[in-house]
Amino acid sequence: LSDVQHLELPPSADMHVHLRQGELMDLVVPSIRAGGVDTVFVMPNLIPPITTVAQAQEYRSRLQSSEPQVQYLMSLYLHSSLTPEVIAEAAAAGIAGVKLYPQGVTTNSESGVKEVQDFHAIFAAMEKHDLVLNLHGEVPYPTDKCSLEEAFLPTLKDLHERFPKLRIVLEHCSTTAALDAVRSCGPSVAATITAHHLYLTEEMSHVDPLAFCKPIPKTASDRDALIKAACSGDPKFFFGSDSAPHPLTAKQSGKQVSAGVFTQPYATQLVLLALEEAIERGVIGEEEVTQERLELFLSRAGRRFYKLPQPDDLQKVVLERKGETIPSSISSADGTIEVGLSRATSSVFSLS
Ligand code: NCD
Ligand code: DOR
Ligand code: ZN
Ligand code: ZN
Repeated sequence: LSDVQHLELPPSADMHVHLRQGELMDLVVPSIRAGGVDTVFVMPNLIPPITTVAQAQEYRSRLQSSEPQVQYLMSLYLHSSLTPEVIAEAAAAGIAGVKLYPQGVTTNSESGVKEVQDFHAIFAAMEKHDLVLNLHGEVPYPTDKCSLEEAFLPTLKDLHERFPKLRIVLEHCSTTAALDAVRSCGPSVAATITAHHLYLTEEMSHVDPLAFCKPIPKTASDRDALIKAACSGDPKFFFGSDSAPHPLTAKQSGKQVSAGVFTQPYATQLVLLALEEAIERGVIGEEEVTQERLELFLSRAGRRFYKLPQPDDLQKVVLERKGETIPSSISSADGTIEVGLSRATSSVFSLS
């Protein structure tokens, strides 16, 4: 990969993004295409969370007017106000999924789920109407023996056993154990892998506020297992950046740092950079990163899982090495809001 000067790929499908609201949305949404992405699955953890079909439709039209050249898959926030009727309505309105946040686990999860079993009627309706269940797969309480993610995996297994046809995505998986759990489930269960979990470890995420996120990145060995999964050719694993912008002020406050790594404008480029570094470290061989496997991970497997058409051959993203480096932040035109980028100064492919 490091010798490759020119690369042509189908547009990436980024199946996990946070596009926010207001000024932050206006800053972030125009950067989706810059990251080589034409399709996004939009997370519902706004303030207030997206819990009705009308809210999701209104949000989609705001996103569309900000950047019409992107396809937005919308989701609802799993909440006590959801009913099987709302699920039917959501399916009819083309909403793609419902995100489960265990209560208190991450940004804007205060009104999330306390007891998963209270939602079995909703999951049954989702299975019937073919909506995807997106899991933030971490328990919200401290554990001593294993990671928060590993402690969540029995819940994934249980849901898959009870609702075998329900399509489930274990989002942003960060451990070897999570990869194995997903592999051991049937084809209705898949997982997203972010760009940043392909290059961060726990220490890096704790040291640099711009690299702090949930789930917290784990060991170098977990990171390398994620890299191998991403270029394994297994369609269960596809790209979801979990790009999660926060204003620099929330990252530098000195108090509680907001969790989230912002990668959107370089989403595809950062995946390629991480794979390149993995080849240099000897984690994977050059020959394992084939055109076909890159296309599968970045674009085709996610579309297939969400039952979207594959991109046609005319819509190629062309990447070229031009010595471009990632800036440290992007700001709104009037300078009122600034968001720091992960991996500033790294040399990446340019989109031409
Ligand atoms: C976010 C938003 O707009 O949804 N707000 C923010 O970053 N200021 C929510 C959040 O991340 O807390
Ligand atoms: O790091 C994260 N940030 N993880 C999440 O699950 C949520 C996200 C956010 O919304 O900021
Ligand atoms: Zn999440
Ligand atoms: Zn997320």
